[in-house]
Amino acid sequence: MSKEIRIGIFGVSRGSCFFDSILANNGDIVAICDKHERRAKEAVKRLGKVAVYDNFDEFIKHPMDAVLLANYFHEHAEYAIRCLERGIHVLSECTAAATLADAVKLVRAAEKSNAIYMLAENYPYMTFNREMKRICDEGTLGKLIYAEGEYNHAGDPYGDAGDKANLYDGEKHWRLFLPRTYYVTHSLAPIMFATGANPVRVTAMPVFAPVPRDANVASNSGDKAAIITTLNDDDSVFKFVANSSFGACDNSYRICGEYGQVENVRGTGGKIMLRYNKWNKPADKECINYYMPGINDKDEELIKTAGHGGGDFFVIRHFLECVRENKPHPFDVYFATRLSAVAIMAYRSMMERGVPYDIPDFRKEEDRIKYENDTDSPFWYSDGTAPTVPCCSHPDYAPSEVQKENFMRLLAESEASKARELEK
Ligand SMILES: NC(=O)c1ccc[n+]([C@@H]2O[C@H](COP(=O)([O-])OP(=O)(O)OC[C@H]3O[C@@H](n4cnc5c(N)ncnc54)[C@H](O)[C@@H]3O)[C@@H](O)[C@H]2O)c1
Repeated sequence: MSKEIRIGIFGVSRGSCFFDSILANNGDIVAICDKHERRAKEAVKRLGKVAVYDNFDEFIKHPMDAVLLANYFHEHAEYAIRCLERGIHVLSECTAAATLADAVKLVRAAEKSNAIYMLAENYPYMTFNREMKRICDEGTLGKLIYAEGEYNHAGDPYGDAGDKANLYDGEKHWRLFLPRTYYVTHSLAPIMFATGANPVRVTAMPVFAPVPRDANVASNSGDKAAIITTLNDDDSVFKFVANSSFGACDNSYRICGEYGQVENVRGTGGKIMLRYNKWNKPADKECINYYMPGINDKDEELIKTAGHGGGDFFVIRHFLECVRENKPHPFDVYFATRLSAVAIMAYRSMMERGVPYDIPDFRKEEDRIKYENDTDSPFWYSDGTAPTVPCCSHPDYAPSEVQKENFMRLLAESEASKARELEK
């Protein structure tokens, strides 16, 4: 039996999705921390005996080997740094850093610490993405020169209360101030991981198409997407969106080499299309190969039940392996902060209708010095700090009063329904 690792979970909305995978990989969830009472109670109901905190200062003193950061999207870096300073391993949800200054601080802290830092990026581990990486590694596509990534969630503007209470907790929540370039990890990480290419220059175009003024949603961005292009360090090019909302929902990826291409076909539930030109088709393949990839893993049954196409399971398994064996992981602090930097520089490009920006390389001291005081952020912070830049490509855009009222009413209804469920 592998060594038990004591884990604390900071934020138990998303954090609760990992409970089963942690326990299945011989992790011991010793403490949770969430200031949201109902969510903390739900976690205790599932976990049984566990220490419960409502503030990080007390939580971090609890004896533990590792912390899973699943708190607000834009506030991971400061807590990651505090864990690293105490020698506690960090598995951080996205995004690693919401400002360039935070990215610089995080890289410096990770370099100083003996603890491991890993981004909890799960999409590269979806079955079709693992298959695409396997094909890329096999080499039959030749040099990889172009790739696309889409994390596309079209939403119903008139949707009901649904799961709102697990996604928002008020009118200043980060999801209501999220520029369309910031949630970039799920579209970009899979193609970076599969190809090994790192973006060095970026441009982005906004797709401004606000929802109706009587909708039930109240984002402060009227953009539906940003179409992002990067030039990469191996001369390849990527085209991707961050989180977009157009057409029909899908997560889709396409990787093209000199000899052929592989993609997961939209609307097929994960089928792979692998195609070669006839002049350089491998002998054991057809020109068009169309198939559903298998999970092909010793933990197949656990993977089938884990969230995000099994991605949540792999993230935990890899993280715990790295902690036990004290070995690095590809989703390290440089990988993680490059993703964050692409998101931020793509935002700047989008605001200027596609002006290109270089992506900082935080391995270089000169880039750290250049950006160490760059604190611009579109988000409200827990300490009351207000956004310093707008979140929409049309900076004057704001949801209507009707939208805000509808949204807050549905959020309250959703919360009341969750509270009733908890009491059952
Ligand atoms: N990888 C994925 O597939 C995936 C899916 C969903 C969410 N996420 C990420 O997970 C993170 C959390 O998202 P979420 O959906 O759970 O929504 P969320 O951001 O609203 O939840 C954060 C939770 O942390 C708690 N929290 C925040 N700051 C706190 C503090 N200072 N003290 C105590 N508690 C605090 C909040 O009360 C809340 O319950 C985000 O970074 C999000 O991007 C990732």
